[in-house]
Amino acid sequence: MKKILVIGGMGYIGTVFIKNMLKRNYMITCIDNFIYNQLIQKNLFSDIKNFKFIEKDFRNFDFEVSYLNKFDNIVIFGGLVGDPITKKYNDLSVSINDIGLKKVIDAFDNSLVKKIVFISTCSNYGLVENGRLADEKCKLNPLSQYAKSKVELENYILSKKGKVNYEAIILRFATAFGLSPRMRFDLTINEFVREIFINKKLVVYDENTWRPYCHVVDFTNLIEKVINYKKDDINFEIFNAGSEKNNATKFQLTNKLKMYFPNAKFIFKSQGSDLRDYRVNFTKVKKFFDFNPQISIDDGIKEILKELKEGKYKDLNYYSDKLGNYSIDEKI
Ligand SMILES: NC(=O)c1ccc[n+]([C@@H]2O[C@H](COP(=O)([O-])OP(=O)(O)OC[C@H]3O[C@@H](n4cnc5c(N)ncnc54)[C@H](O)[C@@H]3O)[C@@H](O)[C@H]2O)c1
Repeated sequence: MKKILVIGGMGYIGTVFIKNMLKRNYMITCIDNFIYNQLIQKNLFSDIKNFKFIEKDFRNFDFEVSYLNKFDNIVIFGGLVGDPITKKYNDLSVSINDIGLKKVIDAFDNSLVKKIVFISTCSNYGLVENGRLADEKCKLNPLSQYAKSKVELENYILSKKGKVNYEAIILRFATAFGLSPRMRFDLTINEFVREIFINKKLVVYDENTWRPYCHVVDFTNLIEKVINYKKDDINFEIFNAGSEKNNATKFQLTNKLKMYFPNAKFIFKSQGSDLRDYRVNFTKVKKFFDFNPQISIDDGIKEILKELKEGKYKDLNYYSDKLGNYSIDEKI
């Protein structure tokens, strides 16, 4: 069975990916430093024999070629994710998302690893005007430090084309939603459901702005398809990851939420701090991988709501890192 090295896999999407890939008998090694002290994940998967965990900052890890050669594939999730955290810890963000990840990518140069999958973001499109659907050739307009680093890393990886033996595939993920062992409630759908459930009201900024969404489990399925893809025509290609049926405005999301919370109060405001507004074209990922996400936004709302009703995720302090109130130990 394939051996996969997952860099930064103890986060929101990574833990879902690892959980599902272990069920499918892949052998997974994960390097992560629990940067948010997300202790709840410490012993996750520890009883599964196909899993090995290395608690380490990838900036300080010795990626020797002989070590890397043990793996068939490498998937890179790690880094500081999102606008608020990269703003709050700007120097650290440069150190991790730019300098650190470039050093990691350089370490693969002479390895025999077959495929590298780098997880990027549709946030790279930033603001796309006139309702145009952004395809992979669309001019990028990264508005945050977070997205600027992603664009920088994409270009860095692409500059390796023809100089290395491995294949590289870049996936620009839509905004994720759904349940994960490490929940994030700073992501729009997850946040909206939790907010209304707890406060019976929701403040929505710039309700007519568009964004694409995709469920965490569908992302796992896509990465698996990428890893197992046999032809060489995806080498050093970029793919938007999601589906057009899940492009939605915040207003459309609130309409869905009204079905579950008919008595909740929705307050619409303009000129929030997040200027992003983009609809995305997912033709390429569908064409190459027949990727057709199965889990709808409604399914995502229902599964989160179910756990909220069971009493989970109420305590703001318990998950100090996942409500946008991120904090990182200053020693890092
Ligand atoms: N969540 C989304 O909606 C979304 C959308 C588009 C793209 N993405 C991309 O998907 C990937 C995963 O995102 P996520 O939501 O799971 O984020 P996350 O913050 O939950 O996970 C990131 C992980 O990286 C680890 N990490 C950070 N710095 C590290 C370091 N120096 N050494 C080792 N580990 C380190 C963290 O401990 C964490 O486990 C990211 O690359 C992100 O840019 C996410």
